[in-house]
Amino acid sequence: MSERTSIHGQWSSRLAFILAATGSAVGLGNIWKFPYITGENGGGAFVLVYLLCVCLVGIPVMMAEIMLGRRGRQSPINAMEWLARSEGVSPHWRLLGWSGVVAGFLILSYYSVIAGWALAYVFRAVGGAFEGLGPEGVKALFDRFVGDPEALLAWHTIFMVLTMIVVARGVRSGLERAVTLLMPALFVLLLILVGYALSTGAFGQGLDFLFKPDFGKLLFHCEVVNGREHCEFSGSPVLIAMGHAFFTLSLGMGAIMVYGSYMPKGVSIARSSFVIAIADTLVALLAGMAIFPIVFANGLEPGAGPGLIFQTLPVAFGAMPGGRLFGTLFFVLLVFAAWSSAISLVEPAVAWLVENRGMSRVRASVWTGFWVWLCGLVTIFSFNIGRDWRLWGKTGFDLLDYLTANIMLPLGGLCIALFAGWVMRRASSEDELAMGRLGFGLWWGVIRYVSPLLVLVVFMHAIGVF
Ligand code: PHE
Repeated sequence: MSERTSIHGQWSSRLAFILAATGSAVGLGNIWKFPYITGENGGGAFVLVYLLCVCLVGIPVMMAEIMLGRRGRQSPINAMEWLARSEGVSPHWRLLGWSGVVAGFLILSYYSVIAGWALAYVFRAVGGAFEGLGPEGVKALFDRFVGDPEALLAWHTIFMVLTMIVVARGVRSGLERAVTLLMPALFVLLLILVGYALSTGAFGQGLDFLFKPDFGKLLFHCEVVNGREHCEFSGSPVLIAMGHAFFTLSLGMGAIMVYGSYMPKGVSIARSSFVIAIADTLVALLAGMAIFPIVFANGLEPGAGPGLIFQTLPVAFGAMPGGRLFGTLFFVLLVFAAWSSAISLVEPAVAWLVENRGMSRVRASVWTGFWVWLCGLVTIFSFNIGRDWRLWGKTGFDLLDYLTANIMLPLGGLCIALFAGWVMRRASSEDELAMGRLGFGLWWGVIRYVSPLLVLVVFMHAIGVF
């Protein structure tokens, strides 16, 4: 059989694949989401569970997802159908691809709104809006901003247009090259911010919060009511930590699968997965190490929610020498990190429209982009006029985030693990992964037993089975 390739093209090299996949993984999840959910869920113990999930579920599932993509060589929906047929099982496995398309669509609808915030903050930083503002001023600025639906809509629209332009041109042009320069720059800037955090006098407190586990906080949700602490059993911090491992590594929805389908044969899937996961984790930990000292030094609330980085980092930019330049650079890089993730969120849908509906990339992009954009209104309103609209006690944004990151992605990941570990013939995966006997044996054991069981146990714990 001659080697199969994707009709959408192929990455030029191993490095190109790693850059694109790292561009997908590193994004708002690392810098915006990781700190605020860590703050809301009590710190250390949450971080530990997240790191365990990255190692025991994230990396093995990433290898499986890349492998399925590269063997299927099509959009996730068609790849799953083709793989299922060639392993002699039901083609309904294509539903896994569909759930990924839906998840990517819903995630992008709120991701783009938050990326719009970052874009707006670039202009605040350039104009010196944070200078000498202090924590209260910064918070007031943020509250005023998210309270204005028209402003949020404008920035969301700009970000969606930017995303769809790149998607329309094809994943290989433009952004792939930009990421080569911007990812290392983001890394350096985070180091500078950690350097500033060292000077705040609360660095130790920040590190303690991030790395000293308090397991009580993981199992019980405590609130102080009338001066008394009330604790109730809650399984959700563990589920949120696991969901985040999937979210931050772009797993469980086909983004990494579709990128894998453009990967040249002969590139090591295991090695690439480790590089991507390590880079992603480092960025998240650095962001945490920069943010929490600033939170504690200024008497801010770690559990402030989705506004956390927008309410803390500007305080630092407003006080540090060169803050205007660093602030501008930081938000520019954050926008680029979000941009390179956003394109991977719609790529599975666009690839499918091109394959099955015969659309051009441009039409497919405009079409998907429009619906995602419209769906973004739910998130925009949940920060202002729709603040009090609740379903199951959650705002529109919280609901979208919970449904996708904590339910759809882990379930998608579970199915990927089951397909790779139990449906696919061992010989097929051995051939595709092409690793040493020991490495393969280890992955095989983990993907068959450890990863699926962990996901199941966490789900059962979250719904209160034990
Ligand atoms: N991994 C991205 C981030 O951390 C988000 C993402 C999730 C991208 C799922 C693609 C698929 O920001």
